[in-house]
Amino acid sequence: MKLKGLKDLQTLVSLCKRRGFIFQSSEIYGGINACYDYGPLGTELKLNVKKIWWDAMTLRPDIVGLDAAILMAPLVWKASGHIDGFTDPLVDCGNCRSRFRADQLKDPSKCPTCGVSGKMSEPRLFNLMFKTFMGAAEDTASVVYLRPETAQGIYVNFPNVQTTSRKKVPFGIAQIGKAFRNEITPANFTFRTREFEQMEMQFFVKPGTDMDWFEYWKKERIDFYAQYGFNKENLRFHQHKDGELAHYAKAAFDIQYNFPIGWQELEGIHNRSDFDLTQHQKFSGKNLEYFDEAAKEKYVPYVIETSSGCDRMLLAAMCDSYREEEVRSEDGGDKIETRVVLGFHPALAPVKAAVMPLSKKPELQEVCHQILKTAAAKKIKMDYDESGSIGKRYRRQDEIGTPLCVTVDFDSLTDQKVTVRHRDTMKQDRIGIDHLTKYTQDKLDNF
Ligand code: GAP
Repeated sequence: MKLKGLKDLQTLVSLCKRRGFIFQSSEIYGGINACYDYGPLGTELKLNVKKIWWDAMTLRPDIVGLDAAILMAPLVWKASGHIDGFTDPLVDCGNCRSRFRADQLKDPSKCPTCGVSGKMSEPRLFNLMFKTFMGAAEDTASVVYLRPETAQGIYVNFPNVQTTSRKKVPFGIAQIGKAFRNEITPANFTFRTREFEQMEMQFFVKPGTDMDWFEYWKKERIDFYAQYGFNKENLRFHQHKDGELAHYAKAAFDIQYNFPIGWQELEGIHNRSDFDLTQHQKFSGKNLEYFDEAAKEKYVPYVIETSSGCDRMLLAAMCDSYREEEVRSEDGGDKIETRVVLGFHPALAPVKAAVMPLSKKPELQEVCHQILKTAAAKKIKMDYDESGSIGKRYRRQDEIGTPLCVTVDFDSLTDQKVTVRHRDTMKQDRIGIDHLTKYTQDKLDNF
């Protein structure tokens, strides 16, 4: 069997549009740059991405959740360094008016769009935060920012969460939520967008233990991807060297993924020292120290942050699971055809099983709907598909990553059994309808 991976991002972009994973935002108005909408399958997939991350974090006794507001007191962004330092160097081409990030240009004097040399402007710093106005008066006093990261909502809530949850350091706070960045060069589909979701966890530790925890979280996070079926050869660590380190970071590693556009950051793991809590103490005037009752000592905890993009993890999951295979037609005969498969881990698959009547006869449809009802009661997401040959329906489900297909045929009416076909092996089992939900759950759990 010949097997091919994803050759370019465009192939995936087409699949996403065709099958309803991801659409350009405001498409009927010509679209808005670097914003995307998730369709029915994309929404399920995104919920699953969040679920596996949230479970990996909050099923531990030492991590609790938070859902902070997007709009925060403007001083937060002064304290965090974003108002003064969250900038990219912007250059314009005087000939064709294209804009670039100066640090991404190979030749700073030549425009990559029109090729004209010597017309590039001097770099000027451009702040990536989106501004808006709070209240009726559009004056500077009411300027607020759309948060460029979710992390700050966690730091400012450190005392609230610590005292109410009664957690002792070391412990972490996890949050999933929207973040906004007015990126100069958004590109590559959902890889770099202006509105995206982050999944961030800030782990508060005693100073001096920070580098041990940093190593611990590096391992936890890379293991997470292996657990959900990512190919190990598509993942690597990239260490931030002195020039690359963010203003807050004592040490930083990215987990990079080998996207069709090359190795790129998937997630960041940062030792943020006591930078953030100290800054918020200074700007808010509130004491953010932790009191260690056992040791009878006070300190400002250090923070180890794991920061991933939900949209980027979803994109990586799609790239990683995409494959094309030459297989024999499943409608019988010797015809060889190409099937596209998204070989998702079942925890990620938007649909866990597709239920199909062999024909559109009402008695078969009735059995299908009973199966769907039983699965829904057990919170297993199944789908119904009755159009086209069975082979074509299998292909459709392969392309959206459905692990199992369940076919109800005329024998089902007498023997009370259905045919279950497996996405990856294309093998089939005959299973009693009574056992189907349990069988499906077992297969999903023991992938
Ligand atoms: N709190 C630390 C922080 O925000 P970051 O490296 O700027 O660190 C963390 O962002 C993660 O958020 C990235 O690894 C990426 O997955 C995601 N991310 C950042 N900017 C993004 C963008 N413009 N579009 C999509 N995802 C983005």
